[in-house]
Amino acid sequence: MEKKNIDWANLGFGYVKTDKRFVSNYKDGKWDDGALVSDATIAISECAGVLQYSQACFEGMKAYTTEDGHIVTFRPDLNAQRMEDSCKRLEMPAFPKESFVDAVVKTIEANSEWVPPYGSGATLYIRPFMFASGPVIGVKPADEYQFRVFATPVGPYFKGGVKPLTLRVSDFDRAAPNGTGHIKAGLNYAMSLHAIVTAHEEGFDENMYLDAATRTKVEETGGANFLFVTKDNKVVTPKSNTILPSITRRSLMTVAKDYLGLEIEERTVYLDEVKDFAECGLCGTAAVISPVGKIVDHGKEICFPSGMSDMGPITKKLRDTLTGIQMGHIEAPKGWLKIIK
Ligand code: PLP
Ligand code: COI
Repeated sequence: MEKKNIDWANLGFGYVKTDKRFVSNYKDGKWDDGALVSDATIAISECAGVLQYSQACFEGMKAYTTEDGHIVTFRPDLNAQRMEDSCKRLEMPAFPKESFVDAVVKTIEANSEWVPPYGSGATLYIRPFMFASGPVIGVKPADEYQFRVFATPVGPYFKGGVKPLTLRVSDFDRAAPNGTGHIKAGLNYAMSLHAIVTAHEEGFDENMYLDAATRTKVEETGGANFLFVTKDNKVVTPKSNTILPSITRRSLMTVAKDYLGLEIEERTVYLDEVKDFAECGLCGTAAVISPVGKIVDHGKEICFPSGMSDMGPITKKLRDTLTGIQMGHIEAPKGWLKIIK
């Protein structure tokens, strides 16, 4: 198979139009069979539910080329389940989980020339998403929906690759108690745009959001969950029902325990105790696990002992093991890799 002629090593995290995308429509109470199409544009009613009331959700996953030349994707069943959970909360019709995985597989297969080669540092990012396509003017769920999957080759999410990041503690909240923080609704990201633009203007890479109710507990960033490492090498991640249940984070906790033999803990993490951790990382499909070097809380600096030039040693082991599993040179737990071809 010929690969596209792309400078894979210098790709950023951006949109590149690829050859095919999967489209399925929901009408009269059912999903159609769906098909791969070439047209990357969408024509919908000016009154579509997504345009008026932001009724939309999405997923993010990746396809990888393994060391022995296969194309694989990572735990797609968990993305299918999470999209179903998002749909339920947003009064959208769930897309059947087997059909979700099938649509992802078809999209990757049809764009296999765009899957970056092994060792290039790039991956194919897969974006399944659903939106209300039918018109609504009263505030209510639409009657018609579209589910799509497209793919785009990407490099690192954060400029500078794996250089430690600087975060600020945000004065903006990302999610309300009993709100939509635990699902992957587009509206959560619209909410976070002002916070990220102003963070960048002030020289920060990302925001650390706190729980909106008490502003004492660590939640997550705009696009990733937190992992911390204690001075005695325990891996700790915040437990909260207003953060997105990251598939990468859940996988890294398994890696920490079963592959690296580390103690793990999912619990409330208070902002006050962050200064005592040895390492900090952001984990997600896009972020993989990106090291955090410094967090600034209204002028007060929290500097992790791992420093601003390298990843902490445990963060690095976690990253190497997870990417080793995804690239096929470390044996994956049963069911984690879906071989596409
Ligand atoms: N938290 C938020 C807000 C995200 O957008 C993402 C990205 O998907 C994550 C966490 C990480 O989740 P996952 O590891 O499933 O990609
Ligand atoms: C992902 O990691 O897949 C996400 O959806 C996060 C987004 C900020 C790119």
